[in-house]
Amino acid sequence: MAARLIDGKALAQSIRDQIAKDVAELHARSGIRPGLAAILVGEDPASNLYVKHKEKACHEAGIYVDDHRLSSATTQAELLALIEKVNADPKVHGILVQLPLPKQIDSKVVLEAVLPHKDADGFHPYNVGRLVEGMALFTPCTPKGIIKMIESTGEAIEGKRAVVLGRSNIVGKPTALLLMHRNATVTVCHSKTKDLAARCREAEILVVAIGKPKFVTGDMVREGAVVVDVGVNRLEDGKLVGDVEFGPVSERAGWISPVPGGVGPMTIAMLLENTFESAKRSAGIA
Ligand code: GUN
Repeated sequence: MAARLIDGKALAQSIRDQIAKDVAELHARSGIRPGLAAILVGEDPASNLYVKHKEKACHEAGIYVDDHRLSSATTQAELLALIEKVNADPKVHGILVQLPLPKQIDSKVVLEAVLPHKDADGFHPYNVGRLVEGMALFTPCTPKGIIKMIESTGEAIEGKRAVVLGRSNIVGKPTALLLMHRNATVTVCHSKTKDLAARCREAEILVVAIGKPKFVTGDMVREGAVVVDVGVNRLEDGKLVGDVEFGPVSERAGWISPVPGGVGPMTIAMLLENTFESAKRSAGIA
């Protein structure tokens, strides 16, 4: 079977086009312009690029960007002072603190300092707890995008056997919760899982977020499965690849998302969506 492509790039663009229209309408109706504070600490080239893409997407959608680039020597106290400032700024409806943060800063303390109702990434423990209950103010962007990608295939999630490879707080755990909320039967696999290949082969939906280039090979995938590749790995030759060996897996899967052009663009679209929804909530519009 030759897999069909889950075109995250095209899906993300159509969502961004719709958000741009909705932002213009909200502004015309209520005078409110959604705003995102983007905070980047340090000079990590990948993080720099991610934040640049996020800000460009905001500009294109008519979302105001409050941009903060801080040096890698920034102290925790300095970052917390900035977060206090953007927490109090009525022009800001969403706050993005790009991860990872430099070693001298405790990410947990920083993420907890973001006001839960401005937590556009959904990383604050309040929103994590609400996510467990199925009623988060903000759903983390990458998992939210993954679900939309699976839904875009037209394949049902309910009743399916889903395997999530990876158990990070940002991707694996929230994705497993979202799949569970949609009545999938979910297994979470990680580096200590026994018979990992066999578990993967059981999956009708396979979400791979393990951070190892080409980790999932053709023989690990069930015929007809929906495969979402969250990996972003830069090879020595500069090529960007996912965690899934695209060629062999696409011969067995029913659907597969590419890297690049899969999950990455959807993460950005979901950040815009979360910021827009937050702006509407702040205006008392459901
Ligand atoms: N680093 C890697 N992914 C993400 C993300 O979705 N949000 C933030 N803030 N940092 C990240």
